Amino acid sequence: MTPPTDAATDRTPLIAGNWKMNLDHVQGPALLSELARTLSEIKHDPSRVEVTVFPAFTALGAIQSLVQSGGLDVNYGGQDLSPFDSGAYTGDISAQFLASLGCTYVLVGHSERRTIHYETDDVLNAKVKAAYRHGLTPVLCVGEGLDIRQAGAHIEHTLTQLRANVAGLTPEQAAGLVVAYEPVWAIGTGEVAGPEEAQEMCAAIRAELSTIFGTTIAVKARLLYGGSVKASNAAAILKEADVDGALVGGASLDATEFAGIAAFEGQTPSGGPV
Ligand code: 13P
Repeated sequence: MTPPTDAATDRTPLIAGNWKMNLDHVQGPALLSELARTLSEIKHDPSRVEVTVFPAFTALGAIQSLVQSGGLDVNYGGQDLSPFDSGAYTGDISAQFLASLGCTYVLVGHSERRTIHYETDDVLNAKVKAAYRHGLTPVLCVGEGLDIRQAGAHIEHTLTQLRANVAGLTPEQAAGLVVAYEPVWAIGTGEVAGPEEAQEMCAAIRAELSTIFGTTIAVKARLLYGGSVKASNAAAILKEADVDGALVGGASLDATEFAGIAAFEGQTPSGGPV
């Protein structure tokens, strides 16, 4: 099927920083203040490019206070959530807790959760639904490991994850979905997927969403690429028709570097100013 790319310009690019298990409730707000200052210096326009951060749970309260008191144009979200709403689930964080902290988004199914915490596609489907029950937008992470890529099975593998994780969503929910394609072999390795590889997978994801939910829904969902994104390679990846943003790990811990990614529109593909 031809990927439905005609409405690409209607999708606001999303530059998201996954801080992972870095930055406590003092360090997180300090980085966010510096980021907000840097974005304002480079005259970043939040209506053109949305910026979002994913701090540790313990930093979310302080991030909320900072965003509210400083009137910052930055969204934020949790890195994970429970598939359940409340009850005897020691150590878990519910979608409702995240919503009451002002979160807009929540990461679901990051490869580090799939691998280290053995999260299955069924659990991740329940997490996606839990997010929507409480008004959060899931940023669903999918992607293949190196062995699967080398075997040439990366598209089928990633689409199998996608199909299982979005099963049972309403068309309205699917239209608001954010899917991040993160090839595991490119995470934290400096090994970045080429723009064509990112586009190939994002086009396949959009085509699959179109098959499941219809084209008018699929053209609304935002698709991100994640894996060793830096200011110097962001522009080349983000110019691809089906890539609507980036999910950034290491480079999001540096305000200047992350702001440089958010400024991708003014960069040449080599990272220099236009
Ligand atoms: P890096 O940008 O450090 O490769 O991490 C990507 C990632 O896992 C974002 O969720």
